[in-house]
Amino acid sequence: MHEVRGVVARAKGEPVSVETVLVPDPGPGEALVRPQACGVCHTDLHYREGGINDDFPFLLGHEAAGIVESVGENVSIVSPGDFVVLNWRAVCGNCRACRRGEPQYCFDTHNAHQAMTLADGTVLSPALGIGAFADLTLVAAGQCTKVDKRARPEAAGLLGCGVMAGFGAAVNTGGVGRGDTVAVFGCGGVGDAAIAGAALAGAAKVVAVDLDATKLEWARGFGATDTVDASKEDPVEAVRSITNGIGADVCIEAVGNPMVLEQAFYARDLGGTVVQVGVPDPSMTLELPMIDFFGRGGALKPSWYGDCLPSRDFPMLIDLYLQGRFDLDAFVSETIGLDGVEEAFGRMERGEVLRSVVQLGGDR
Ligand SMILES: NC(=O)c1ccc[n+]([C@@H]2O[C@H](COP(=O)([O-])OP(=O)(O)OC[C@H]3O[C@@H](n4cnc5c(N)ncnc54)[C@H](O)[C@@H]3O)[C@@H](O)[C@H]2O)c1
Ligand SMILES: [Zn+2]
Ligand SMILES: [Zn+2]
Repeated sequence: MHEVRGVVARAKGEPVSVETVLVPDPGPGEALVRPQACGVCHTDLHYREGGINDDFPFLLGHEAAGIVESVGENVSIVSPGDFVVLNWRAVCGNCRACRRGEPQYCFDTHNAHQAMTLADGTVLSPALGIGAFADLTLVAAGQCTKVDKRARPEAAGLLGCGVMAGFGAAVNTGGVGRGDTVAVFGCGGVGDAAIAGAALAGAAKVVAVDLDATKLEWARGFGATDTVDASKEDPVEAVRSITNGIGADVCIEAVGNPMVLEQAFYARDLGGTVVQVGVPDPSMTLELPMIDFFGRGGALKPSWYGDCLPSRDFPMLIDLYLQGRFDLDAFVSETIGLDGVEEAFGRMERGEVLRSVVQLGGDR
């Protein structure tokens, strides 16, 4: 048993705190990982606000890279000393989705079996089965994806959630290809990763839509060719006019707002694709005239985790990063300590950062 520090959300809406966390040694199929860096994602805040479920207390943090400390029995995919990005899609290989050859939808992904606890034995629920705002964390071995050690952990860890979700929304779910026109609604970390993905896939135009002028400026840095300030003009009309009056081939909603999803729906060309990667809250509804749904054709596709396969996509994206073709560093707005997560939530809510990244002890 290891006694470490971890960032815990004890109750709905209460500020998070750094607590002593007890982490067991890995059992069969498990790996003990020493996170070196972990990004602060909107989902961590959703957990703290009780928006995901009521299984408090939560051990937060899930966009992490670090070093495998030790592994349990029957683990062959990673070894102690490996540099890994943690994922929340440890594909089972056996569920309905996996058996029909669609492992990106895996309905039974693996997490550690043993629990991490508070000092008094209270069982912690690790965010997305990871819990990496901690000096050590216990995960299923399949949640560790080995990548090139030369990558900076602060940047590499971001592939574990938001950046992969955005990149994959464009490239995997949206199937953006050479010459396509793309519009991305919402230019936070997820939207900017979608912009970068679309640009890398060869999109002819990548239109960034946001309400915030600074976000639009950052979006240009990731490859947006045009920007639309939706606080000043109708984004549907603007996207149409930028695309010669016809609308974009692929429109990506990266906010989690039904009004924005509707805009994405109407800003799309006939037969085009709408991708929803923004996460709604359970109260939201979408109403569309059925004739428009039918008459516009194409596809409306939700994107879970960018339809990624970590073992396929993380090493590839790290290679692009190391070659200077995908600027993961640009998502890292600031680095903070474990005790800085609560303040980082505030900066995230005020839109001041793309990602705050917690730096942890592990060897560099
Ligand atoms: N599908 C997945 O697997 C997955 C994974 C990670 C995150 N997400 C979700 O993706 C969404 C975006 O995450 P993020 O980290 O980029 O968040 P963020 O808060 O950093 O970015 C959201 C952006 O949307 C902009 N925005 C807000 N309202 C808008 C509007 N009406 N029109 C245009 N732009 C608007 C904001 O200015 C901001 O720049 C969240 O809902 C998050 O939960 C989904
Ligand atoms: Zn499966
Ligand atoms: Zn996340």
